[in-house]
Amino acid sequence: MSSATLSKYDPFARLLHWLIVVLLVAQYVVAWTMPDIHRGTQPVGLITWHLELGTAIIAIMIVRIVWRFIRREPDVVEATPFMRQVAWLTHILLYVLLFVEPVLGWINASSRGWSVTLFGAIPLPPLSATGSALGHEMGDVHQVVAWALLGLVGLHVAAALFHHFFLRDGVLRRMA
Ligand code: HEM
Ligand code: HEM
Repeated sequence: MSSATLSKYDPFARLLHWLIVVLLVAQYVVAWTMPDIHRGTQPVGLITWHLELGTAIIAIMIVRIVWRFIRREPDVVEATPFMRQVAWLTHILLYVLLFVEPVLGWINASSRGWSVTLFGAIPLPPLSATGSALGHEMGDVHQVVAWALLGLVGLHVAAALFHHFFLRDGVLRRMA
């Protein structure tokens, strides 16, 4: 398949992709600027933003995962079987971490006794009991997975730019 005829992802898939990019960039900026969270910290200000952005990411990822199963797949890109598997694995891991990471944060927030909402309006159920030791530990896991997700995103963006500037094979335009 030549680069000129490579089909694009459908418009809804592209919208969801770039919406998550914007929300995720905002989420890291908020996560690194919000006040340190200790025992007894109240979820106000930037911390509220962190929770709201995070639950919005979960909601959009659920739509995105469903869409991935029902949409028409774009054409297969010409690549070695190994490269194809690396790309497939990176995409699947991105999907998994983009869902698991905010859920870990939610579990930790529940263990702090914080009420978590969607879009600031829809109350979500607690995922752990207040004071739960497991919920506490999930806060540490949440911080580690945040770095893993960031590393994976870095690899993904580097690959997209490599396709565009070195391979010049039209892969970047499939999502643009
Ligand atoms: C993809 C979405 C998310 C990303 C990338 C993310 C990222 C992060 C990062 C990087 C930190 C560490 C901040 C620091 O260094 O001080 C953090 C902490 C935290 N996040 Fe998230 N977060 C996400 C979603 C959520 C959600 C949905 C919730 C809750 C509803 C949440 C609750 C928390 C809490 C409570 C902490 C403090 C954890 C602790 O200190 O034990 N996060 N998050
Ligand atoms: C927060 C950052 C990002 C995340 C979480 C992310 C996530 C993803 C995921 C999960 C896919 C697989 C799509 C699917 O099969 O449904 C994908 C595809 C793609 N992304 Fe990203 N992406 C990010 C940033 C970017 C950026 C900055 C670029 C461009 C420089 C980019 C370019 C692409 C391209 C070209 C594809 C399609 C690859 C193909 O043709 O198979 N992404 N992205």
